[in-house]
Amino acid sequence: MKRILLIIGGGIAAYKSLELIRRLRDAGFEVQAVLTKAGAEFITPLSVAALSEQPVYSELFSLKDETEMGHIQLSRKADVVLVCPATADLMAKMVHGLANDLASTVLLATDKPVIVVPAMNVRMWEHKATQRNLTQLTADGVHCIGPVTGPMACGEHGMGRMSEVGDIVAAVQSHFRAGPLHGKHAIVTAGPTHEPIDPVRYIANRSSGKQGYAVAAALAAHGARVTLVSGPTNLTAPHGTTLVKVETAHEMYEAVHKALPADIAVCVAAVADWRVKPAPQKLKKSAHMPKLELSENPDILASLCALKDERRPACVVGFAAETTDILSHARAKLKSKSCDIIVANDVSETSTIFGCDTTTVDIISATAQTHHARVSKTMAADALVQTLIQTMDLNI
Ligand code: CTP
Repeated sequence: MKRILLIIGGGIAAYKSLELIRRLRDAGFEVQAVLTKAGAEFITPLSVAALSEQPVYSELFSLKDETEMGHIQLSRKADVVLVCPATADLMAKMVHGLANDLASTVLLATDKPVIVVPAMNVRMWEHKATQRNLTQLTADGVHCIGPVTGPMACGEHGMGRMSEVGDIVAAVQSHFRAGPLHGKHAIVTAGPTHEPIDPVRYIANRSSGKQGYAVAAALAAHGARVTLVSGPTNLTAPHGTTLVKVETAHEMYEAVHKALPADIAVCVAAVADWRVKPAPQKLKKSAHMPKLELSENPDILASLCALKDERRPACVVGFAAETTDILSHARAKLKSKSCDIIVANDVSETSTIFGCDTTTVDIISATAQTHHARVSKTMAADALVQTLIQTMDLNI
């Protein structure tokens, strides 16, 4: 039985940790809890102890707590440390290695994987300090679940709401599943690119990034370590992926090549084919009509396929967004870009593809072709990952 050390931070979302304990135990985990002093302002140690059927620890300098289980032992006995809710304060303490209470001391002493589930007010989440801390925690190997966008207890609305309990349980379960892509590194490009015209205007396209993010989630769920290089979107990086945010095709090209080596590359991004030389100042309407001189952007997919030797990912997947002769155009792209799999995407009905949750795709490899009509983007991503696993001859 896998053991989870649950650290409950002090936020209004702490009440959800009671349901989380129950659901984790239903899923077969043993849960041992540390309740911070602030957490105990929202829920009682008695409810936590009753639901976990384990003693609850909260004091660093408590003779009773230390005799029952020392803080070092507490941090090592678990298979994973789950911080839920992770407050801005707890995240900041983790970044700086503070150890002035039981929760922070355990987090500093542990040699086990740590997962944080942030929950806080939207302004606190978006504050540069929190975002800096998140980047540092990710770099330190801490996994992050959520947060999501939605209404908050404080009456505001936005990013910072804690992930739903069911999603947290699913993410913890997938953490323990090795999966056929375990040990493989996958790079996924997603979303549109923005090519600036002047400081306020840019060339863009209708991509929402949903398909790319779904592919990244499916790869991570099958055990891959995923670097998600994304153009501007409103989406949250799926659990288990490392998000690299970019804006232009050039930045995307640089980020992808910096993330190499990789075993798998899936180019889902709708990269702008052209860019203009941006004007340093805002172009004025009153002046003469501006002439936009276009120059070609680098083709990221083709550049990956063209890499020599072991630098080329073993499996490179391209997407072909087409409105006519979908299959023949897609097959031509499979050849011309020398990729291993191409996903033909029928975008003729723009209103039902861009930004929507469903899609119609044909997944074409050298040996197989499958058709998926009006499926969810999650299902299309799963089907692609199955083809990818077969193409790479990995066991499912
Ligand atoms: N792609 C890329 N870099 C570019 C352009 C496209 O990596 N500069 C990738 C996309 O992510 C996708 C594939 O190439 O996987 C095909 O993109 P698509 O726009 O359909 O094809 P193009 O090569 O741009 O050809 P066309 O627009 O003429 O159909």
